[in-house]
Amino acid sequence: MTRSIEVVGYQYDRHGDATVLEQRTRVLSAPGPNEVTVEIVCAGVNHMDALIRRGVEQAWADDPWPRSSGSDFAGIVVACGPGVTALHRGSEVIGHVRSGAHATHVNVSVASLVVKPRNLSWELAGGMFLAGGTALTTLDELRIGHDDTIVISAAAGGVGSIEAQLAKHWGARVIGTCGDRNFDYLRQLGIIPVKYGDGIADRIRHVAHGPVTAFIDNFGKDGEGLAVELGVPDGRYRSSADRRDVEVALLREDPDSVRSGTTQLQRLAHLAQLGAFRLLVSGLYPLADIVEAFEDLDRLHARGKIVLATHPVAAYRTLRARDVHEALP
Ligand SMILES: NC(=O)c1ccc[n+]([C@@H]2O[C@H](COP(=O)([O-])OP(=O)(O)OC[C@H]3O[C@@H](n4cnc5c(N)ncnc54)[C@H](OP(=O)(O)O)[C@@H]3O)[C@@H](O)[C@H]2O)c1
Repeated sequence: MTRSIEVVGYQYDRHGDATVLEQRTRVLSAPGPNEVTVEIVCAGVNHMDALIRRGVEQAWADDPWPRSSGSDFAGIVVACGPGVTALHRGSEVIGHVRSGAHATHVNVSVASLVVKPRNLSWELAGGMFLAGGTALTTLDELRIGHDDTIVISAAAGGVGSIEAQLAKHWGARVIGTCGDRNFDYLRQLGIIPVKYGDGIADRIRHVAHGPVTAFIDNFGKDGEGLAVELGVPDGRYRSSADRRDVEVALLREDPDSVRSGTTQLQRLAHLAQLGAFRLLVSGLYPLADIVEAFEDLDRLHARGKIVLATHPVAAYRTLRARDVHEALP
């Protein structure tokens, strides 16, 4: 007989900041055909979750209330529905859902899951889907390769750090914009750091040693003007609005979108396994501290990714090194 599972998850009844999130407990239904129940170990925290929750992102404005939070997760299969053969109880998986990952458990179609390579940490696996999928899709569109010198804004953040490392992995010369505090971090990744702010075009030219052939603006301020000033070729600039479109497409629930999201996730897992990129988790929060995690993200100075964890960090709290050793602006 299958034991019923109580799921603790975060939902909201109205638009707002992270304080509208409420912890709710309910009994999870048994997984349906081709579904499994995953006990979540880690789940990513993304700006898109916040944009949807605040009502800024309108793609799902007609969704019924209450609404659930969270799209990236990694965890362990604890129950299989009818027809599931590729996974079993105990399978370690990475997955994506449009919402509902900020919870202890989720029922999800096997079409949204890939097997977690053993050498990937739970934190990396749980925070990988939306940031990594956005990075990979954007680089695919630009066909980044050996001949490129690419500028990536917010290169120390969740999306930017994956983009920058993958562009480097594919042979490009990569210039990343950041504040002073992230120069060492980007250098360790083989990325050339350039401070954002007035005079940035000259600083980029100084280190580019030739034409800038592509530009990805994650941060979304003045990127287009800067791309023009740097002479970036037509079609090789990606704005923050382009990024929004990529993220929305990765979250869509129709079968084609789910399939292509899972394909990107599979590629990411493989690239991470090869060591093509690392994902620094500089904020790891217990699930119950979800409001704090979103407030950390909202400050826009995360390094790498902010991730929620269910069991491992629930029993103790750690100070973040970036808060202990650095005075934020
Ligand atoms: N258009 C959209 O739909 C959309 C969707 C999601 C996110 N975004 C935006 O994209 C940005 C990056 O996304 P993410 O998910 O990678 O976020 P993230 O992890 O929160 O990115 C934080 C990074 O942004 C950097 N940063 C702060 N101020 C900057 C500036 N003026 N210029 C360049 N970089 C700056 C920080 O570097 P320092 O600490 O060194 O300053 C930090 O490493 C965020 O600002 C977010 O608001 C846009």
